[in-house]
Amino acid sequence: MKRNTRRAFLKSSSLAAVALSLRGSSLLSQTSSSSARIDLSPSEPIATISPELYSHFIEHLGGVIYDGVWVGEGSKIPNVNGVRKDFIENMRSVQAPLLRWPGGCFADSYDWRDGIGPRAKRPARSAFWNQQDSNQYGLHEFMHTCRAIGAKPYLAANLRTQPSRDFYQEIEYCNAPSGDVLSNSAAPATPNALAAQRSANGDRDPFNVDLWGVGNESWGCGGNLTPEEYAMEFRRFTAWTPTYGSAPLRFVAVGPNGDDVDWTTRLFKALGANPERRHLWGLSIHYYTSGSPTKFAAGDALAFNDDEFYDLLTRGSLMDKVITDHWTAINSVTGAAARAHSLTADDTKPVKLVVDEWGAWYGKGTELAPEYNLSQQSTLRDALLTAITFDIFQRHADKVGAAAVAQSINCIHSLMLAQGDRFCVTPTYHVFKMYLPHREAQSIRADFSAPAIPNPMGGTTPSQVGGNSYIGQLPGTKTLAGLSGSASIKGKNLTLTVVNPHLTQPMTTEINVRGASIASAKGTVLAETDVHAHNDFVHPNAVQPKAATMQTPVSGRLHHTFPPASVTALEVTVA
Ligand code: AHR
Repeated sequence: MKRNTRRAFLKSSSLAAVALSLRGSSLLSQTSSSSARIDLSPSEPIATISPELYSHFIEHLGGVIYDGVWVGEGSKIPNVNGVRKDFIENMRSVQAPLLRWPGGCFADSYDWRDGIGPRAKRPARSAFWNQQDSNQYGLHEFMHTCRAIGAKPYLAANLRTQPSRDFYQEIEYCNAPSGDVLSNSAAPATPNALAAQRSANGDRDPFNVDLWGVGNESWGCGGNLTPEEYAMEFRRFTAWTPTYGSAPLRFVAVGPNGDDVDWTTRLFKALGANPERRHLWGLSIHYYTSGSPTKFAAGDALAFNDDEFYDLLTRGSLMDKVITDHWTAINSVTGAAARAHSLTADDTKPVKLVVDEWGAWYGKGTELAPEYNLSQQSTLRDALLTAITFDIFQRHADKVGAAAVAQSINCIHSLMLAQGDRFCVTPTYHVFKMYLPHREAQSIRADFSAPAIPNPMGGTTPSQVGGNSYIGQLPGTKTLAGLSGSASIKGKNLTLTVVNPHLTQPMTTEINVRGASIASAKGTVLAETDVHAHNDFVHPNAVQPKAATMQTPVSGRLHHTFPPASVTALEVTVA
């Protein structure tokens, strides 16, 4: 077969892009397949991909905790010590690494002491999201959930309505060892009071929580603070926090609203005013994508047109810019001088980005019921956004230390939907599974060449996300990458994940591994004829992955056709 040279290919790509600008669905369906190319470079490693990139978030909000996670020990719904069994099993099957809790905005109105001790005696309180919280699900129930899943806890501390003493004591309650503890003075050994209280509440062994978010969205629901005010609070909260055992604490500072570089720059300048910033491990980033920039529409999780489809994916793709912008901002402020002052617990390591809230956030209209606040349906479009987002994280494995989807069940960009005894997984869940082989592999350079897709809505400034007018997001760009993805390698096994966002056009692609040849390949694909396809309680398996149709590699190269609107995971063996 005659191969395109790279130059000829790029020329044909740009012609195809012009042709596509005349688009309309009927025209597109008649267009023949374009060729594309993917070049993988194992000799250009980026970093090891942290499993924590695929983490989770659950908040006391609508039906997330109550019904989604917690059904109670007496429930007829299958449960493990009160936690929904389906939730545990599916979180296990995606190997959830971290679970963030209790918020979100909820965290900054939450008193952790309300959720410990005998459940019958716990107080019901007014809480964020205009709801009342029964406190039946608290710290111990959360830790048991993490244990059952095999996930590590990531706790968000209350910085708005509690003083730093409560934070210190929450750390102490979670991590202090039980039994008599020798002090470093001449005093006799005594039990730690908070560890004894934890023990009396059923958990003698410490929870060993190392990862702590210090507040949440402190520029908004977390207190409307300026970066300078937050820097002062961050120092107060984290200076000389108690540590136990060998695991160092990892603190995550509140980062920007979307791409607000001014927040990050000013925050790091303010933190830099005092060299002692112990255990600053990461900077949180929240970046959501709304359904349509031009209208805040009811039901837009399911009802969207072609333009809105492309525009959402374009704005979601700007996660790449958000990561790069904030990485540049941190490093331009801190630099070598700040490192010398121990900006992190280990001053040889730079601060990581922690994208602990991301996803597509739609208007109301598809929630399970009115009281399931912010629950929404998820279609194949959301699966594509999930894959695009993971590919971005993987390409930036040197910068992103952890990320958490908002939120795992019954919420914005969920993997699972549950209502009473009804349960299903969403297309997004399948993408989490398809991306498992990337974990702890070496992310490598991957070059994608394919005709760009025009985005007529590009440049429109979005007004609001979901019900949230203050979450900032970026206007989309005029074009969307025709193919995007990422690659990683572990020994001779290479994983390549690819999104073809084109609604009608399959993309026949030549895949080449620089300096090696492809011996064999197999794959899984998530694709449906209609991008509105989704699972629900009546059709729980309407969208699920299938084995990809593969060709045999020829002369060490693989030709593969990525179907329209698809996510593909290829496992390639190189010789
Ligand atoms: O995930 C829902 C909300 O979005 C979170 O509580 C908050 O942090 C963000 O504004």
